[in-house]
Amino acid sequence: MTKKRILVTSALPYANGSIHIGHLVEYIQTDIFVRFLKLIGKNAIYCCADDTHGTPIEINAAKKGVKPEDFIAKFFKEHKRDFDTYHVNFDSYYTTNSPENKRYVKLIYKRLKQKGLIYTKDLELTYCENCTRFLPDRYVRGTCPNCDAQDQYGDVCESCNTAHKTTDLLNPKCSICKQTPVKKTSKHYFFKLSAFSDKLRDWLNKNKELQPEVRNQVLEWINKGLEDWNISRDPPYFGFKIPGEEDKYFYVWLDAPIGYIASTANYCKNKDITAEDYWQKPGSDIIHFIGKDIIYFHLLFWPAVLMGADFNLPRNVLVHGFLTVNKQKMSKSRGTFLTAQEFAQLTKPEFLRFYYAANLARKMSDVDLDLSDFKDRINNELVANVANFFYRVLSYCNKTFESNIIPAEKSFLDSFDYNDIIKDYNRVEFRSVVKKILKISSKGNKYFQDNEPWALIKTDREKTHQIVSNCVNLVKDITILLKPILPIFTAEIENQLNLKELTTKQLKENLGKHKINKAEILIKKIDPIKLKKFDKFADLDLRIAKIDTVEKHPNADKLYVLKLDIGGEEKQIVSGLRDYYEPEQLLGKKIVLVYNLKPAKLKGIKSEGMLLAADTKQGPKLVLAEKSKSGDKVIVSQIKSNPKDQITIENFKKIKLYAKNNQAWYDKKPLKTSVENLIVPGARDKTRII
Ligand code: 2FM
Ligand code: ZN
Repeated sequence: MTKKRILVTSALPYANGSIHIGHLVEYIQTDIFVRFLKLIGKNAIYCCADDTHGTPIEINAAKKGVKPEDFIAKFFKEHKRDFDTYHVNFDSYYTTNSPENKRYVKLIYKRLKQKGLIYTKDLELTYCENCTRFLPDRYVRGTCPNCDAQDQYGDVCESCNTAHKTTDLLNPKCSICKQTPVKKTSKHYFFKLSAFSDKLRDWLNKNKELQPEVRNQVLEWINKGLEDWNISRDPPYFGFKIPGEEDKYFYVWLDAPIGYIASTANYCKNKDITAEDYWQKPGSDIIHFIGKDIIYFHLLFWPAVLMGADFNLPRNVLVHGFLTVNKQKMSKSRGTFLTAQEFAQLTKPEFLRFYYAANLARKMSDVDLDLSDFKDRINNELVANVANFFYRVLSYCNKTFESNIIPAEKSFLDSFDYNDIIKDYNRVEFRSVVKKILKISSKGNKYFQDNEPWALIKTDREKTHQIVSNCVNLVKDITILLKPILPIFTAEIENQLNLKELTTKQLKENLGKHKINKAEILIKKIDPIKLKKFDKFADLDLRIAKIDTVEKHPNADKLYVLKLDIGGEEKQIVSGLRDYYEPEQLLGKKIVLVYNLKPAKLKGIKSEGMLLAADTKQGPKLVLAEKSKSGDKVIVSQIKSNPKDQITIENFKKIKLYAKNNQAWYDKKPLKTSVENLIVPGARDKTRII
């Protein structure tokens, strides 16, 4: 009989940003599970892909002036590297922008259409005439029609939590160009999700694997009534065109989960199985791992689409919570928003695997990465309890018995029971797995310690050899149990044990007479992890600008209106220099512009930023950069700039720039461009720059 085929997936990360430690919760969780399935001899594969379509990717590629294909290619490479770093071992890592995905999207769409599950309808939507695009929820901001809170997204008000449409927003503004959008009608394609209420309810109720909290949540949504799903988008869009349409695209969330199938097809290339064996024939299990934010997509849209197109349904969808760091949301300013690569600079990637495993249960509750607890667990549990036990036993065997062991005592082997650990692994209860493994390791430590081999050897060499041999057998068992969590550490221990590719079959198997290799210390205690606090200066976008024209403000006698050239781009600012500088003293000067200051109107004239000047007793003194080019960025050593889109004047004032000795400073470091330090003629004593 052929073994059941098991396909496991993680959610597809957007090809629009770096993998961070929050993402890693899921990839590590899934990877541990699949490694476990393989360890117990199951025919399991792990498939995933980059999620490459949609508006944000199209917009961000355009902003960078690159083709979306090139934009996503860069992240594809980066993501693969990050997964390698954390030993996340996919059998197929693919892309949704692939011919296979296009083929399956078309096939599924065709089947849905044939069954009358697709229809079109005209919708009135928000359209920016300046950007010539319809604006998705996240690209319109305006006043909430329910509670009047300002600056809310187009889908839901963060202040009163009510849902609305982009067209309901009062005083809407396009987030891309800040202009006022209009309402415009467009034809859209809908999938009849509402027709699936009963089937979905049935499927949820029959499925005994689902976490009850997940099932209940989804049933509640169904009971409230399901609305049909808009699966089309207008251009400009990066995605697959809808067959028969010149200018309509499939919504990214239609083709993203189909990417699971495409990635399976990629795995099956040049093998004697096909994606159909997993997705359309009996004899397979599909298991998705996802975060709690995308339950709606995976437990309503996705199964309904699969049902409609006669594909196999997932056997389970395992939902985890979000990551918090030190009990709070990850945050750039607290320094806790760490990319996978940044975290790997701080400690060994396997330690994060261990820590996540030790904190993950079959629950939707959030996982907290408490950095002080992280250090304690690595030091006390992984290093002191496990790794030291291994080293003590193996090095003692090396030195006292020339690395030879004798058969273990049956009674010793029988005193351990691993069944519960296997059960917990199967149920994705990793926290419990880790707890139980640590208990076994403690027991091993105690056994070794209590028998005092270093003393016993003087009187009873035979018995000492027996004890050490028993312990080597236990090291082997613990190694097997830890393999899914710590693949690299355990591979090295296998090597020290002179054993290869252990599986759960070898649990409690007596090693008999055997010679091990030389023991080596693999991991040591770690210091507390120190986070680099994010510096507020990084929010700033300061650029060199040349003053092209100076005019008097028509309505205010202390103000000038300046036109600036910022490397080819023109901006206008209003500035209060009129009492201190003549126009000739300003013309042609290269000053510093707060480029991302929120635009404002000053006495009726638009001001897109402000220039920097020291506030001396003799009046404002300009910050200047005569050798730099207009458009050049202003930097401070050791602060990685990560400017916000816009910064308010209040927040700008919190960043303490100052002048001293005719130079400009921040936190004792000079403000500079790539060619020179900025100067502030006339500002000798320490004064604030504003
Ligand atoms: O939420 C996300 O990050 C999506 N890119 C997940 C897609 S999962 C699957 F459906 F493709
Ligand atoms: Zn716009």
